[in-house]
Amino acid sequence: MNIIISDDYQQMSSMAAQVFIQCVTANPRAVLGLATGSTPIGVYQNLITSYQSGEISFESVTSFNLDEYIGLHRDHPQSYYYFMHQQLLNHVNIQGQRVFIPSGTEEDYGAYCQWYEDQIAEAGGIDLQILGIGSDGHIAFNEPGTALGSRTHITELDHQTIDDNARFFDSKADVPRRAITMGVATILEAKEIILLATGQNKAQAVRDAIEGPLSSECTASALQQHPNVTFYLDSAAAELLKHEYKH
Ligand code: F6R
Repeated sequence: MNIIISDDYQQMSSMAAQVFIQCVTANPRAVLGLATGSTPIGVYQNLITSYQSGEISFESVTSFNLDEYIGLHRDHPQSYYYFMHQQLLNHVNIQGQRVFIPSGTEEDYGAYCQWYEDQIAEAGGIDLQILGIGSDGHIAFNEPGTALGSRTHITELDHQTIDDNARFFDSKADVPRRAITMGVATILEAKEIILLATGQNKAQAVRDAIEGPLSSECTASALQQHPNVTFYLDSAAAELLKHEYKH
């Protein structure tokens, strides 16, 4: 695993955005794995700037998002569909038919989860996946206790995640209790993975992910098995790491 510790959020976001820019420049038909949450917003802003300046094009890019709340329609301002369109997709020339965001309003999730996996496989797999990390160590919505061999599935959100995400809703009671999420094994099939984390409230999860045992109690620890992962951290998120990593 590579660990890169940045001075601040702007530096981290711009370095992580460069990985996307290089990926899409090298392969205009790249398949990107996208995440929601506060952390990747700076990366998406950099990508919009890069598109507007003509440096990159999303014309032939395909994207797959990690997860979505169950029960939120795509027009709901807290749905991940809405978030992705506000933060990135509406501002670049990606083609709607190549944007995949799990639906939160399906009837038959057994079939739908398999369909989502099949779409990723048909697209040739994910070339570059961006991840955040939950304060409980989750990647996507793979909460503590999720099998490391899991694939796209429905999950119950952890109390910690409901508390953390309540800031986006009017009240904690409004946070959906269930989500659809790519599984840990689905994520590990991406050819390259970058995980971003900032702030002290991520420090324990970051330490468990990088230096802890491989454990379903911290699903991000599964990234230790992947051959091409880079953690982009700020110093607060890195403060509990025992070993020295380059700044
Ligand atoms: C979002 C996702 C989550 C977040 C994580 C961190 O698609 O899959 O795992 O990455 O909850 O969220 P933030 O960035 O808001 O701290």
